[in-house]
Amino acid sequence: MKVPHWLVLASIVLALAACQTPSKDPVERGRIYFEGLGCAKCHAIGEHGGNWGPNLTFVGVRKSPQWLDLWLKDPHAWRKQTIMPSFHLRDDVRSDLVAFLSAQKGQAWDKGGVRPWNTPQAKAEGGIKRGEILFNKAGCVACHSQGGRGGYPNNNVAGGQIPALIKVAEGYSKPELMAKIRDGAIPIPADPSKPAPMIVMPKWGQVLDNDEIGAVADYLLSLDTAAASADQSGW
Ligand code: HEC
Ligand code: HEC
Repeated sequence: MKVPHWLVLASIVLALAACQTPSKDPVERGRIYFEGLGCAKCHAIGEHGGNWGPNLTFVGVRKSPQWLDLWLKDPHAWRKQTIMPSFHLRDDVRSDLVAFLSAQKGQAWDKGGVRPWNTPQAKAEGGIKRGEILFNKAGCVACHSQGGRGGYPNNNVAGGQIPALIKVAEGYSKPELMAKIRDGAIPIPADPSKPAPMIVMPKWGQVLDNDEIGAVADYLLSLDTAAASADQSGW
């Protein structure tokens, strides 16, 4: 049977309209922009995506919407030497991306999968190695830098930087270190009359259990200046 032309045309028009109708959900629109703009070339969510920048599966746990918005406006204004390009995003696109990023609280791993530091293989490698994977993939690295070397900016804190972690073995016992990671910390403003620091140490107890926190604590306690400067293990 021959399909009438008008029917073919009508279906094409309808199909196009369906594609172009933007979703009413900002998180879903943000997801589409994330894919369309090529963010996944550098960033993974779950296991899907590149490794040039931090894994974003937990980004909504560690970064506030206000900071995400500022970062996406101009990454170089926050960190001069960053390799993340400026996308000059429209305000509505940026706001949808922030909604999408803020919604990333680990579900990309936890829905039917397994977190990369909890695979049988990672578990077989033992606490320090597991902790290193966690440090990189859960995104400690996105604030404390590779190997915990520090150097990432924060506003209105003494020294202008998020602390390095290579010397925690000198100041903390393992239980103290675990408590710090579990409960997080809000930095003291260098100047109380200025806006509060935008980057805080998240309360990791919200998303990590004791066993996971113990592993990352073992990793931190194994760091020292020499090992950390040799470490190039990536995100
Ligand atoms: C060329 C690689 C590259 C591309 C493309 C890229 N980024 Fe990034 N991004 C990075 C790097 C590298 C960092 C880490 C900051 C640093 O080291 O200076 C980063 C940091 C971030 C952070 C903060 C990271 C965190 O884990 O706390 C967010 C959020 C982010 N990018 C979102 C995006 C979005 C959204 C896009 C697409 C519009 C994008 N990035 C495209 C490389 C990239
Ligand atoms: C969003 C950024 C951010 C992320 C991600 C982050 N931290 Fe922190 N962390 C901070 C800030 C800021 C401080 C300083 C808090 C203060 O001033 O009291 C800090 C402090 C610490 C300290 C105390 C350091 C000291 O010198 O006393 C430890 C330990 C630590 N973080 C471990 C971790 C671990 C482990 C992870 C990953 C599970 C992690 N952090 C992820 C921002 C972050």
